[in-house]
Amino acid sequence: MHSLGILLSGRGSNFVAIANSIDAGRIPDARISVVISNRADAPGIATARQRGLNALVIPSKGKAREEHDREVVAALKQHKVDLVCLAGYMRLLSPWFVQQFPQRILNIHPSLLPAFPGLEAQEQAFAYGVKISGCTVHFVDEELDHGAIIVQKAVAVLDTDDEHTLAARILEQEHIAYTEAINVVLQGKFNVVGRRLVTTP
Ligand code: GRF
Repeated sequence: MHSLGILLSGRGSNFVAIANSIDAGRIPDARISVVISNRADAPGIATARQRGLNALVIPSKGKAREEHDREVVAALKQHKVDLVCLAGYMRLLSPWFVQQFPQRILNIHPSLLPAFPGLEAQEQAFAYGVKISGCTVHFVDEELDHGAIIVQKAVAVLDTDDEHTLAARILEQEHIAYTEAINVVLQGKFNVVGRRLVTTP
């Protein structure tokens, strides 16, 4: 049984999509062992509690990055987590954190990386005037929005869009992409060659 740990800071719709996929059997042989937020007021943590999941708040405010990371990693290990899914977790992980889970930390970003890393990616893409944007699920490394790409989904930018309608259509694809990426990683049938994730038979 695979043991997932979810890290979030806010709304938690990607967390809910993952939880729904597990409940529906779309991610076989997996469970969410713990949901951790660095913010007590994250709606996602209330949702996790309502679903009867282990839900922890580990505040980051006022702590050095690695001090906070050590608390989070201790909680993940205590819950025997073997795959960490960042789902709107608004913290950069320290190199030490990344090294604790080699090729076992995923993140979702609402653009086609390497375009528009960082905050408000949908607004950045909209303002730039791209005709295609989308989302990316990637391994987490020491750099922001940077590790090897696992799954991407393209979303066309319509003339009638504003940044909110574009973000909403990207979010629908995020929810599909995260489940696909988790299955790729849990099935383990891939190699990472340079930056390229290549599936194996
Ligand atoms: C998503 O757009 C995700 O791509 C980004 O943060 C947002 C989180 O949304 N990393 P939610 O909390 O999963 O609803």
